[in-house]
This record gives sequence, structure tokens and C-alpha cells, in this order.
Amino acid sequence: MSGDNNPGTVYLRDYRAPDFFIDKTELNFQLGELTTLVNSVLTIRRNPDAPGDSPLVLDGVELSLRSVMLNGKNLSADQYAVDDRSLTIANVPDTFELQCVTLIKPQSNTSLEGLYKSKTMFCTQCEAEGFRKITYYLDRPDVMSRFTTTILADKNLYPVLLSNGNEEDRGELGNGMHWVRWKDPFKKPCYLFALVAGNLKCREDIFITKSGRKVKIQVYVEARDLNKVDHAITSLKNAMRWDEKVYGREYDLDTFMIVAVDDFNMGAMENKGLNIFNTSCVLAKSDSTTDNGFKRVEAVVAHEYFHNWSGNRVTCRDWFQLSLKEGFTVFRDAQFSADMGSPVVKRIEDATLLRTAQFAEDASPMAHPVQPDAYMEISNFYTLTVYEKGAEVVRMIHTLLGEDVFRQGSDLYFDTYDGQAVTIEEFVSSMEAASGKDLTQFRRWYTQAGTPTLTVTGDYNKEAATYTLKVAQSCPPTAECAEKQPFHIPFAIGLLGEGGALPLKLAGSELDTETADNTSRVLEVTQTEQEFVFENIGEKPVPSLLRNFSAPVKLDFNYSFDDLVFLMSRDHDGFNRWEASQQLSLRVIKSLIEDYRQQKELQVDPRLIDAFKMVLEDSSLDKAMQALMLELPSEAYIGECSDTIDVEAIHHVRLFVRKALAVALKEIFHHLYQANMETGIYMPTAEAMAQRSLKNTALSYLMLLNEKPVAELCLEQFNKALNMTDSVAALMALINCDADFIVNARDKALRLFYRRWQNESLVVNQWFMMQALSRLPGTLQKVKELMQHEAYDPKNPNKIRSLIGAFCSQNAIHFHAADGEGYRFLSDQVISLNRQNPQIASRLLAPLTKWKRYDQGRQQQMKAALQHIKDSGSLS
Ligand code: TRP
Ligand code: ZN
Repeated sequence: MSGDNNPGTVYLRDYRAPDFFIDKTELNFQLGELTTLVNSVLTIRRNPDAPGDSPLVLDGVELSLRSVMLNGKNLSADQYAVDDRSLTIANVPDTFELQCVTLIKPQSNTSLEGLYKSKTMFCTQCEAEGFRKITYYLDRPDVMSRFTTTILADKNLYPVLLSNGNEEDRGELGNGMHWVRWKDPFKKPCYLFALVAGNLKCREDIFITKSGRKVKIQVYVEARDLNKVDHAITSLKNAMRWDEKVYGREYDLDTFMIVAVDDFNMGAMENKGLNIFNTSCVLAKSDSTTDNGFKRVEAVVAHEYFHNWSGNRVTCRDWFQLSLKEGFTVFRDAQFSADMGSPVVKRIEDATLLRTAQFAEDASPMAHPVQPDAYMEISNFYTLTVYEKGAEVVRMIHTLLGEDVFRQGSDLYFDTYDGQAVTIEEFVSSMEAASGKDLTQFRRWYTQAGTPTLTVTGDYNKEAATYTLKVAQSCPPTAECAEKQPFHIPFAIGLLGEGGALPLKLAGSELDTETADNTSRVLEVTQTEQEFVFENIGEKPVPSLLRNFSAPVKLDFNYSFDDLVFLMSRDHDGFNRWEASQQLSLRVIKSLIEDYRQQKELQVDPRLIDAFKMVLEDSSLDKAMQALMLELPSEAYIGECSDTIDVEAIHHVRLFVRKALAVALKEIFHHLYQANMETGIYMPTAEAMAQRSLKNTALSYLMLLNEKPVAELCLEQFNKALNMTDSVAALMALINCDADFIVNARDKALRLFYRRWQNESLVVNQWFMMQALSRLPGTLQKVKELMQHEAYDPKNPNKIRSLIGAFCSQNAIHFHAADGEGYRFLSDQVISLNRQNPQIASRLLAPLTKWKRYDQGRQQQMKAALQHIKDSGSLS
């Protein structure tokens, strides 16, 4: 069909509807200690549009087929064919019942896809193509079926047996075995199938939907973790209420179950009625979980819950549509988190992730559109582009349409396609239909990869009292497309004068007096070059551009130093006040990087120090904003804004500036630290988090002074901390302190921390990660030693991520060591992990794919490391 295709590559343009549908799926599992027997009975019907003689080809991987029956008759070996990817039956009627018995070995499944064991419990992960490791099936999301699942297992070892939907029946056999039957009333693709069996304890709660239905909430964990589920339950109930209010969507089953498992490749999975979570994304308790941990639990619980509509009720036709569910759902969970906490903080966090990590993906050989058009391995497409940029694309539609019209569009989408497997096109055209707005050009956001740049100039004409913004857009070529067509970009702006924000009247349009705020506007940039003329502008304004990060683009505007200071203190848009502080720091850092490379003596521009002082003394700023504005741009963002990433210069200059700020603002930092000490009990509210964050930011600056009294303060905080945020902040400051006098105290603190928390696996992960992120010399050696530690488990993804992942993706100065040690370390790890868990191996490898951005020497070494991995043979 497509002659020029690469073998093993799947193309969007090759999509064809399935030849068969599976109306009913009856599964029977006999869970054993060596093997598990899966008996499936599928009610199959030929697609009326398919040729009458097309064979039935079912997907199946690593299965051992015991028997096949068609309409109750055993098939003989010559009536079907099995290879390592499929089962083919050449002659089948138009409707029939197919019964397969397969034998699988969950105990030796280390890939964590399909049915596997995490510690003592059985669990599943079927997205994207894991169901084929359980039984022969049409493992594609456009085949939707009604599932009944019976699980038979030892009652002592596995008292809890769960699957999707509602429990229908249960019973006991005489021999210590018991069984439970589950029935899911909703049709679903097999990637949403789930099964759990184990010795789990459950916490229950009740949620009454807005139409008055009673939903039982159940969270299943190991007994020892029962005291860590309150936050997840509160978050879930908030999410359920929020989805009713903001999207009009109610939950649809009588029970909503969450199970926590230790060994999991990702954060969590939205299986219908039975979400399975990585323990790191569901367990939280103030003494053992940081503020960021609390926020993550709230966000992931909400994300998976929101999938019940955006993903499950309306699902994806094929995996090229992944962003249909993920982009939309990330957007929904971001709106939710913003509503639950501080909207500005949430927006800053999301924009930061996007323009460091996602922009870097766009600039790498891994660049791909939000809707990819070809893939070799779908699990490599669970990317920042599909998730985070996908969410930004939905957000832009929301910005262009406005809240109310967007809601009409989403209602239309959910109501029209409920129970169907659809494409991104159905989503966009629903938004078009509801709004009457033409999104033809906007669709390019889905098909063109790369990060656009907006180059903007401003021109004030005093006589005419006009201000003209000239906007040019461009986008660098990426593999799938050399010449980019212009994007449709919502460009939110305001103009600020001495006395405040100026009313905006665009030439050729009426002054909009009906909206309360006519000082902020979303311009629609659609051409390569475009002009916007504002009238009745009585003074030369400072423009506030790309407010609230209204589009995932880079912005280029030649602000003066004074403009940025002005925006920092006067902009009405919180995001842009922060952004101005970042651009100011970035400017100072960039010029110091030049000095550093020319081996000039470094000196921090005193105007930066004044600007920081202003932030610290500005009573119009809340603590969250102060804390964020005091944080310099990350090494990753500085790198992203550089032509070539100079690892050493970036690291040393950033540290130099931080130290200079610490020296200059010592008194204020001391005051801030004392003024923000906590007294009351731990609360995971936005205000309390902001206060902790401000205090700990002050501490981290003060610790750069290498002064004994500060070290005492830090040790005292470490010893007395009542919550994990304060404990981790203090320990992190100790770990990064290069004063000689701290060495013993640091070692002792690390030992104490481990001893206290050795039985809390998630805290031990933090302990590993903090050490992997140390800026002090010898960190790679330390990481290698820690891999031999009693608490390290080379099979557990969370442990791998905490130690190896954190080191390679977040510790630039050591990972990118000029001698290439870091690269060799990573390639060795990837090679050995590849056999065990290919998904984790391939995610771990990501930092090496960014090689283009480094100097020649590092490029060579990074490519050599990649080549080494490639040459190791038998890569998945
Ligand atoms: N759909 C999941 C989410 O909420 C993603 C996911 C969970 C996943 N586990 C996975 C994807 C394993 C691939 C493989 O985002
Ligand atoms: Zn998701």
C-alpha cells in the first residue's frame, strides 16, 4: 500500500478501519505463582465495510497459545497460524465466537506492560499496546468492547480481586481459591482494561454527584500506606465537583477505584473505573511528602479522573490522536490546579516546563508535531510535545474562543462523540461549530513541529498619538517539514503608561467599552508579518507582550533594562511581572557568560541587585510571586536561550550571580527567613506553600555565604522540621554547601535522614535524588556508589528515575562533564536496562538526544555514546 515506507513504521495516512469488531469480551484469569492462564471468549463481527474474505488477524506478544475454538469447535493446527506478533485465522464467518486459552508469566514480566507483578500484587498496564501481552486481541483503540472479567486466585495471598466496572458476583472454591466477576457496562478499547489482585487495604468515601447519584470512592494501598491517602481522596472529590461545574461532566459508574503500585513506568493510568497509580502520585502525608509532592498528587489524581470523559467516554481512533486525550486532559488538569491553588504560580510552572524541556525537544532530532504522522514505537510518543504542547494548543483555542464558547464547544464534542473513537479533527471541528470561528490555519499547530519565534518591535508616533506593534513570526525547519506555514497565534498584550494601563483602541475597530477591561487584548497573529496600530495613545508606552504566556512561542522584543524593571513592578499581568524579572536576570547572566568565556573578571550589574531589592520590598507582591521572582532562570532555561549550551559557563555564572545576590541582600534574606518561620500545623494550601517557598529560597541564598551561623540555622531547620518541605530544603542546602566545616554535619544529616525514613520508599527516593543533584565534585562517583546501596532497587522505575534519571537530566555540570564520563555512564545504564524495561531505558536516554545544542567536543562524545547503545545489539 505504501511502497516508500520504512519497515516497522506505522503511518497515519495508512489508517484503515478494522476488518472486525469485538462486541463482547469475556476474560477469565487463573492467577498462579508460576503461570497465569487466560481464557478469553470474544464475540466477533465482521466490519460490513471490510472484504468478506479478509482473515482475522489478532495481536499477541509473548503469549503461549494453548487452544483456539471457533463457535465451540477446536481449531486444528492447519486452520490458524501463530507467529511472535499475531494469531491469524484465514477463514472465519461474519459473526462468531472465538475462544482462546493462553498462558503467560507475569512473574517474569519486567517490562511492566501487560500483566505483571509489583511486589506481591498482580497489576496491569495496557496503554498503549500492552493488552496484546495478555491475550490475542485487536489491540487498537478503535475496537471498543463490553468487558466481563472473572479473576480466580488464592484467597490468602490475594484477598482483593479488582477489574473495571461493577462487581457482579463472587464465590469460593473449596481449595483456598476464590473468584470475583466484574462487568463494565461501558464499551471501551482494551488499553483501558485493568486487573489488580493483592493483599490490599482500602479507604472508602462517598461522593454525591450533582444529579444526586451516590458514588463509592475506594483507594486501595498496602496496609502501611493507609495513612497517606487522605490528600488523594480530597483531591479526587474536588476534581469530581470541578468537572461537574466547569465542564458539566458527571461520573458514570457506582464505584471509582484507585490502586497504588510501587513498580510503574509512568505516573498513573486512567483505566475505566479502576485507575492504577504509581505510589509517588497518590500517597501523601505532611511529614513525608513535600509541597511539590502534594501538588503532584492533586494534579495526577485529577488528570486521571478527567480522562473518564476526555479519553474514555470519547476515546482515540488511533495512537496518532494521542494528544486528543492527553493534550486536552493536561489542559483540564492545569485549569483545575490553577483553581485549587495560585493560578499565576501554576502558569509559571507550566510555562517553565514547556520552554525548557519541550522547546529542547523541538530543537532535537526527536522533534515531532503534536499529532505525529509516523511512529515506530508508540510508547516513545508519550512526550512533552504530545502532552504539554498539546495542552497549550487546547489552551490557545480556549483563549481565542473565550470561556463560554469553549464550553459550548466541549459540550458539543462530548455529546456528539460519546462512546466513539475519534480524531483531533472531531475536537477542533466541534470548537469551530460552536464558535463559528474558522480554525483552518490554527490546525497547523497540530501538524507542524517546532517552536515559532515572534519578533516584535514597537513604534510610538507622538504627533499621531499612535503606537504600532510590528509582529513577525518564523519557525525553524524540523525533520517533517522544512518550510513552515505561518501559525495562527493568540497574542495577548497590554500597553503600560506612567499612570497605568492604557485603554486599547485598534485602528479600524471600535473602542470596546462593554468589557470591563479594555486594557488587555488578544491579538490574532496569522501572517508572517503583521502590524497592529493602537490609537489615542498619549504617551510612549511599555508593551506587555504574550501575557500569561498566551502561546507556546519564543518572544523577541528589545526591552531596555528600565522597561523590564518597570514591568516587574507595574505590569497588571502577574505572569509578565515574573517574566520581566527572568529576562532581566537572563540579560545579566548572558553578558557575564561572555565575560567568563573571555576570562574577564566578573561583576554583577548593580541594577539587578536593586531590582531584587525592589521585589523584596514590594508590598503589592504576594509571597508566592516574591519567591518565584527571586529564583534565577534555571541552567536549563539559560541553555535553551543560548546559541550553544556552554555547560560550565552557565553553571559558574549562575552560581556567581546567586552568591553576589546573597552577599548584597544578606540582611533582607535573614529578615525574610525569620519572618516566614512557620508555627501552625502543616497545610497544603497555596498561601502556606508560598510562605515555605519564600523562607527556603532565602535559606538557599544565605547558605551560599558559607557562614557558620547560617549553617547552624540550616541544621536547626533540618533537625526540627515538622514537614518534608522544610526538611528537604535544609538537607539540599547542606548537600550543596562547599564549606569545609559542613562536611561532617552533612554526612551526619544524610545518615540521620536515611535512618529515619528507610522504611518509606518514597522518601528514600528523595534521598537518592538530592544526592544525585549535588553540585559538589564527585557526584557521579556518589551516584555509582548509591546504586550499590541496600535501598536501591535496579528494577524499580522510581528508584532508577530518582538516581540515574535525576543525575542525567537535571545535573548538567556533572552529566556533561567534559571527559564524557557522564555520557558513558548513561549509555551503559541504557544498554543494561533495555533488556529489562525498554520503556524506561528509552526515556532515560532523552538527554543524549539533545546533542545538537552542545559544543563540538561534547557533540562527538554524546553521539559516540548513542552509537555505543546502537551497537550493543538487540535493541528493542
Ligand atoms: N494515559 C496515561 C496518562 O494518564 C499514560 C500512561 C500511563 C502510559 N502508563 C503508561 C503510557 C505506560 C504508556 C505506557 O497520561
Ligand atoms: Zn493522561
